[in-house]
Amino acid sequence: MIIKINNLYFSYQGGKQNNQFKLTVDDWGVNKGAFFSLLGPNGSGKSTLLKLILRFIKPARGNIFINGVDIQDYKRKDLAKTIAYVPQKISSAFPYSVYETVMMGRTPYMNFMGFENEEDRRIVKHALEIFEIDHIKHKGINELSGGELQRVMIARAVAQNASIILLDEPNAHLDIEHQVSIYGILNELRIQKQITILTVTHDLNLAGVYSDYISFMVNGRILISGNKKDVLNEKNIKDIFKVNAEVIKYTDDILNVLVKPDKLN
Ligand SMILES: Nc1ncnc2c1ncn2[C@@H]1O[C@H](COP(=O)(O)OP(=O)(O)OP(=O)(O)O)[C@@H](O)[C@H]1O
Ligand SMILES: [Mg+2]
Repeated sequence: MIIKINNLYFSYQGGKQNNQFKLTVDDWGVNKGAFFSLLGPNGSGKSTLLKLILRFIKPARGNIFINGVDIQDYKRKDLAKTIAYVPQKISSAFPYSVYETVMMGRTPYMNFMGFENEEDRRIVKHALEIFEIDHIKHKGINELSGGELQRVMIARAVAQNASIILLDEPNAHLDIEHQVSIYGILNELRIQKQITILTVTHDLNLAGVYSDYISFMVNGRILISGNKKDVLNEKNIKDIFKVNAEVIKYTDDILNVLVKPDKLN
C-alpha cells in the first residue's frame, strides 16, 4: 500500500467539546496505482482526511505511512515530491499568472535560489498544453473562470511529478467535456506512470466510470471500502446519501448512477 493509515484520531481544536468534529480511521489504505474515490456527505471529513495525509494538520494519535515511511519522518521537500494536491478551496491573495502558478509545482525541485531550469520549463509547457490553458498562460489567476482556475490547479499538481495526487472535488467547476477530459488525462497518467490518484468527489457517475476503489466516509469514519463494483450499489447510496438511485452496470468497470427524485418512487 502506498498510503497506509493506522489508528488515526484527529479533532479540530477549539469549539465546544460536544460538537467538535472527530475523525477516526482505524485501518485504511490506498494501493499503488489505484484510482481511488473518497465519497461522503458534506462535513463527513473527506477534506480533513486529505489534509492529514498532506501533513497540513497533525493527528492527536496514530500514523500515516507513505511508501512505508511515517509522514512525520519525511523532509518537507521529499513529501512535496511525493504528494501533489489540488485543494477544494483555491485562494490566492496575490494574482500570480497561470504560468507562474503551474511553475510553482516545480518548487520542490528547485535549488535554494529558486531558479527554474530547462526541464522545469519543458514540464510546465507540457502541463499547460494537456490541460488546454496554454492560451491563457499570461493571465492572472484572479482573472479566470472557475473551470479554468480548476484546470490550472490540476496542471500545477501534475507538473509536480509526484507519485500520488490528491484532488479535492476537482470537477466541481468543470463543464462536462472538461470533467471527462480531465479524468481521462489523470487516468492516462496513472496508467503510464503508475501514479496513485485519490480524489474526493460528489459525482457518483465520475467515480463509477473512472475509479477502481471507493471509500464512503460518514461522520468522521470510513464506513465502507472496496472495489467499485462491490460497493457502489443502490443500498450503500441509500444508506449514506439518503437518496434512491439506480446503478446501471455496463461492465464491471463502468457503472452509471442514476439518482431518482422522491417523486418517482
Ligand atoms: N479548520 C477547521 N476548524 C474547525 N472545524 C473544522 C475546520 N475545518 C473543517 N471543520 C469541520 O470538520 C468537519 C469536516 O469538514 P471537512 O471539510 O473535512 O468535510 P468534507 O467531508 O470535506 O465536506 P464537504 O463535502 O462539504 O467538502 C465539518 O463539520 C467542518 O465544519
Ligand atoms: Mg471537503
